[in-house]
Parts: sequence; C-alpha cells; structure tokens
Amino acid sequence: MATRLAPVRHSTGQQVSTGRAPSQWWRTAVVYQVYLRSFADSNGDGIGDLAGLRSRLPYLAWLGVDALWINPHYPSGGADGGYDIVDYRAVDPDYGSVADLEALVADARKLGLRVVLDVVPNHTSDRHPWFQAALADPDSPEAARYHFAPPSEQPPNNWQSLFGGPAWSRTPDGRWYLHLFAPEQPDLNWRDPAVAADFERTLRFWLDRGVSGFRVDVAYGLFKDAGLRNNPGVYAPTLFGHGPEQAMTWNQPEVHDVWRRWRAICDEYPDTMLVGEVCLADLDQVALYSRPDEMHQSLSFRLLKSAWDPEPFAEAVRSALDAFGQVGAPVSWVLGNHDKDRQVTRFGGGAVGTARARAAALLMLALPGSAYVYAGDELGLPQAHVPDEARLDPIFLRSGGARAGRDGCRIPMPWNDSTGVGFSPAGAADPWLPVPADWDRYAVSRQTRDGGSMLTLYRRALALRAAHPALGGGEATVSIRGDVLTVRCTGAEQTVQCLVNMGSETTLIPWSGSVLLASSTSVRASAGSIALPPDTAVWLTEE
Ligand code: GLC
Repeated sequence: MATRLAPVRHSTGQQVSTGRAPSQWWRTAVVYQVYLRSFADSNGDGIGDLAGLRSRLPYLAWLGVDALWINPHYPSGGADGGYDIVDYRAVDPDYGSVADLEALVADARKLGLRVVLDVVPNHTSDRHPWFQAALADPDSPEAARYHFAPPSEQPPNNWQSLFGGPAWSRTPDGRWYLHLFAPEQPDLNWRDPAVAADFERTLRFWLDRGVSGFRVDVAYGLFKDAGLRNNPGVYAPTLFGHGPEQAMTWNQPEVHDVWRRWRAICDEYPDTMLVGEVCLADLDQVALYSRPDEMHQSLSFRLLKSAWDPEPFAEAVRSALDAFGQVGAPVSWVLGNHDKDRQVTRFGGGAVGTARARAAALLMLALPGSAYVYAGDELGLPQAHVPDEARLDPIFLRSGGARAGRDGCRIPMPWNDSTGVGFSPAGAADPWLPVPADWDRYAVSRQTRDGGSMLTLYRRALALRAAHPALGGGEATVSIRGDVLTVRCTGAEQTVQCLVNMGSETTLIPWSGSVLLASSTSVRASAGSIALPPDTAVWLTEE
C-alpha cells in the first residue's frame, strides 16, 4: 500500500502537497547524508543506530535540510561499511529494527524531513543466503544469480577490483567468482530474472514503509559484458571516474531497463525518487541514467574532484549543468561523502582548508539543483588520522596499507563539548572508530554557540536558500575574472550572484547590491564595491 507523506517544506520555501501533481521536491532539495554507524549511538555499544538518529532529527530540522539519505542499514557481513548486504528486507541488529525505521520515518515526516535509503543492487554479501546456497551447490538456482566460472589456473579475464587486485576469487571447491569490489561482495548476475524480481520486492518493502526513495549504489554496474571479455589494456581502477579502459565491466546498455522498471515502481508511490551513483568519467553518459523515464537524478561528483582553482570549478559546474540539462534532470551536487577525504583536508587543511570549505559550501548551495551534504561537513570536520590497527576499510586492507582508505571520513560525530563528544551515552563502549582527542572543538554544542562557526554558516545559508528561490532553484551562468569565479543565479523575481575568490590576493569588485551572506567576516562592502579576500565566497543580490 502506498504511504502518503504529509506536506513538507520545499527548499524554495513553498509548501508542497502530495496530491496528484508530483511535487518534484528532489529537484532542489538539500539532502543530508547520514553515515548511520557514526551519527548517534543510543544504547552505548559504540555504534550509531536508528534510535540515535531519531533522537537527533530535531537537529537536522533546525539545520534546515529537506531530506536525509541513510547509508546502508541492512544486516551485513561488515566487510565494506554495510555495502555487503545479507538481507535486503531487514535492519541490522546493530542499528535496531524495522519498527525503529518506521518510527524514524514517522518522526521525520512530522518535522518535514524525508527519508531516503541506500540500496545496493550490484552485489550481495558472501554471507547472503543465495551465495551460501551457490557455494554449497554449483547447480543450484542461486548459483545462476552470480558469476561463476569453472576451475582453471587463470581467472576468466583481466578485470580488476575497484578495491585493488583481481576481480575474481576462488570458492573452496576451486571455482572462480566475480567481485568488482571486495571478495566478500560477489557480483550479482542481472541476466537472471530472479535477481530483478527480488529487488523489486525490496523496493516495495521499504516504499510501503513510507520512505521517499533510494540512493542507488553502483547504478552504472549490475550488467557486465555478456561474453565477460577482457577490458582493453592494463588498468588499476579506483572508485571514481571510470572510462573506456573498463568498457566491459560497467555501463552496459541493458542496465537502463532496470532503471525504467524501478522508475515505474516509484511512480506508484507519490513523491518518491531514485538518485543514482554513476561514477563514469563521461558526464553525458552519466546523464543518460537520469532520462525522464529512468532515475530522477544522478550524483554529480565533479566538485568533489576539483582542485581549488577557478578553471576546474567553472568547468565542473558548466559541464554538469550542460549534461544534465540535455535530459531535463537537475544536477545533484556533491562536495563530500563517505568515500572521499573530507573537504577541509582536500582543500589544504587547517585555516586555509576550512576557509575554502566554507566558500565551497556557499558555491554548492547557490547552484541550481539538489545539494548533498555529508554529515560532519557542516561542522568542518577534517580527515581524521586513524591508527593502522583501527582501520577497517577494505581499500586499506587489500592494498596492504599502501592506500589509506576511507575510515578517516567516517569518524563518529562530535555532538557535545562538555561530556566527551556525546556520540554515545556516558559509560558506553569505545566508539567503533576512534575519535581524535581534540574533536570536542568541532562539537555541535560548541558551534551552535559560535556565530562565526561552520555550523552557523551552513544554517544561515540553508535558511537563505529556502527564502530565495534564485538559490538552488534558478538558472546559472558561470564566468571567471582573474581568480574570481562568479555564478549568476537567476530566479523568477531575483538574481543572486555567488562570487568565490580562489586566488591569493584580496580582489576589489565593483558592486551596488547588498551582501546576503559571506563565508568570512573579513569581506568589506563599501559604496560601489566589495573587497573579497582570498578563499572567500559571498552571496550578493543585484540592485
Ligand atoms: C559505492 C559506495 C562505497 C562502496 C561501494 C561498493 O561506491 O559509495 O562506499 O564501497 O559502492 O558497494
């Protein structure tokens, strides 16, 4: 049965109803990515959980986001941060129960927040009952749902795992099986209809519980070259930006029919949406996943990869607007997530990195489309140092420590600066990843009291975005003058410009409008001009 949502606040400040006309809330939504294991621990086991997240929903409403996307909450083998799923229609006991998820969705709705889940269709856990049955019997129907090859000296082809090393491992009886990620994540064979049917059940299971859609993991995967032919040449893939060197592994044309079927299911549930993770180098190919009858949007990772320089940023913005514009989809901007080093660190660390992350936030939140904010980025968390013995990421483990991996951007949230960091209740077990000793300085409680904090900046920016449809909802044009990147956002009634000085000198800009928001207190406005210091952004209204 389709569950109807109460009206929720649109990020442009309008009320949207869930009547017949679809609200398309996702077009301009600010979606907050919750790394569940690290968000809030309610029961003191050192692991974030659904009840903890539920208790912090008022924070998200106060912050001013429209929706939350929760990283995988399913029972998991624990080999890849929950992306190795054992049961798609259940909640991992570490996180609570299905009833907890329903309670979360209900509370979120009362606060005007939508809940989006993560779904992982490219692979299961090796502990999934299907894979276990396939291991036990090569002739079982379950074996046909994965990619097995008979025992032989060499793996069937040259495909590489995105986590390093060959994409084929052996079963105890000597067969090969395919895993484009960790060996604990066997790839599903989407040419078997039982696979598609089961995922359709999973979608309905959660949609019937009132969720507002799904972030689709590895949406450019699922189907592989039918002949499992070699990829051309030698290659060593990483998580982002796959090109022709991996032509046989990803982006097979058949996958688009899956998204058409999933879209049709979502269309039965008012106001739900699919957002795809499509890590292809060619943005025009990425955009094809968001054609009107496929997923509603695909995450755009260009800003996440851009060096601090006006050219790459301008190019990132222009190319995404162009590519998604061709198919009529909004751009879904991403500055940080659970797979990348934290922005503050990427942009240079310390005061400089923080200033740039503040400026980048204003840029992203001005751009037309939806914006994905990774939990902790609103606090300006840096990439944490994680001692080797505490690291869990398969990227670190499979590379023998040569690649640091992603643990440092997945550290528990610092909520409180008076009793520990307030991630867990007093007397709790150690957090599942160690929290650096000085992280009370980033705590929510401290930043809430500080008018100049990153948190205060995000909150102000989100409130202004909700009040000014030109921000997030306008048409953008991008230009560069010297070291200053300008995005001119034109809404129906107003134009707001976002200027970012990416150089090392203060720049004087002729201006006669007013300053809506600045990422630094050292911006000086006088009659007719604005002095914009390095690593600083402003939102300006035109007279
Ligand atoms: C996606 C996820 C990443 C995960 C991988 C395999 O890229 O974002 O965290 O490791 O898929 O599921």
